[in-house]
Amino acid sequence: MVKEYIESNKQRFLDELFELLRIPSVSADSKKKNDVRNAAEFIKEKLVAAGVDKVELCETPGHPIVFAEKIIDPLMPTVLVYGHYDVQPPDPLDLWHSPPFEPVVKDGKIYARGSCDDKGQVYMHVKAFEAMTKLKLLSCNIKFMIEGEEEVGSEHLGTFVAANKEKLKADVILISDTAIISLDTPSITVGLRGLSYMEVEVTGPNRDLHSGVYGGAVANPINVLSKMITSMHDENGHVTIPGFYDKVVELSTSDREAMNKAPFNLDAYKKELGMDEIQGEKGYTTLERTGIRPTLDVNGIWGGYTGEGTKTVLPSKAYAKISMRLVPNQDNKDITELFTKHFLSIAPKSVKVKVTALHGGQAAITPTDSKAFKAASAAFEEVWGKRPIPTRDGGSIPIVALFKKELGLDTVLMGFGLDSDALHSPNEHYGIKNFVLGIETITAFYKHFSKA
Ligand code: BES
Ligand code: MN
Ligand code: MN
Repeated sequence: MVKEYIESNKQRFLDELFELLRIPSVSADSKKKNDVRNAAEFIKEKLVAAGVDKVELCETPGHPIVFAEKIIDPLMPTVLVYGHYDVQPPDPLDLWHSPPFEPVVKDGKIYARGSCDDKGQVYMHVKAFEAMTKLKLLSCNIKFMIEGEEEVGSEHLGTFVAANKEKLKADVILISDTAIISLDTPSITVGLRGLSYMEVEVTGPNRDLHSGVYGGAVANPINVLSKMITSMHDENGHVTIPGFYDKVVELSTSDREAMNKAPFNLDAYKKELGMDEIQGEKGYTTLERTGIRPTLDVNGIWGGYTGEGTKTVLPSKAYAKISMRLVPNQDNKDITELFTKHFLSIAPKSVKVKVTALHGGQAAITPTDSKAFKAASAAFEEVWGKRPIPTRDGGSIPIVALFKKELGLDTVLMGFGLDSDALHSPNEHYGIKNFVLGIETITAFYKHFSKA
């Protein structure tokens, strides 16, 4: 029944999603503030059309949060759906094969910024809800909380959650903002990494200098910063910040073995990335390196002259944005502190260093023995014909740990993207098949969850 409903409304679902994808809701770009709000309004409107009894835009000092609910019976269980309608900046624009906010379908995939992360996945929930209300299949209460600041660190969500515990009361959180292994191998994410995101500024001379007149005689902050960054990994790919690994939980051999049973093809992985060789922490497989190990990476580095041609200059300043992915039990505030202390300590006297913490969040592990997880597993089995494999993803959704802490609620991470969907990259895309199967799987989840 659901399948027929989706099939006969599929084109409209896609047309609506395209409309949402055309709104450039880039939360990081203050010039896009109105567009971000328009995306929130769009979601609100569509939730109303799909049959919620209450919906509001909850204002924050930043972008608004869409909250909606359909309470069919206060005595029935409640699912709180979380997602985000904001997207990453589309840059670099010249690498897109079609404009990021003009969705097109190619080879069964929707190309647009946010198609997978997370508008396409949020919209599956809106349409699954529509299908269930129209077909009178809704068997539990639903609340929606769709935010507009996820891609910039969910700055105001913590306050909102803490101040609205009653409103957000539910039995479980359901999120589609992660990936499956492949269309042939469904999976459910059971772990996410945490994050600590820093910016550093290294100052050498008090002004840019002629690199001939002064070069060789004074510290070049870019040279110094590069050396400092290099020193933060040893030859085995371990992070050298003292105390960095202190709280990291080492998995048992059997847990590691189980984790490595998930299908993974190194050659296909390298090919997809256009790389001849990969590298990472010694002693761990690729799945472990992204799933259960913490990391340190430079996200951006700048300073000096980067314009056309040449300019002989010895820069006054050098900057870098450095993020650390964290694993369960590492505290992001501790790590931020350890980084700061270490970074200041390795700076030579020839430069001045400023360290700023930008944002962060805790890692999360979700239970696999809960009613909700079992319902998600059964839903995949029903729709995909295969039992989903539990996986640990490398990305972060800091709100998951916050939900547990503030509301005492566990989350089910039922995402339908693919790692190869180019999230945060040029040419982000999302399979129409993933979208359709996602809607079906979500409705199956509700069926199994309310039966349990
Ligand atoms: N949806 C992603 C997180 C993700 C992607 C989890 C793929 C698992 C698999 C989310 O929108 C995201 O990008 N999160 C940020 C963190 C945030 C604090 C900016 C991230 O992981 O970089
Ligand atoms: Mn996301
Ligand atoms: Mn993202």
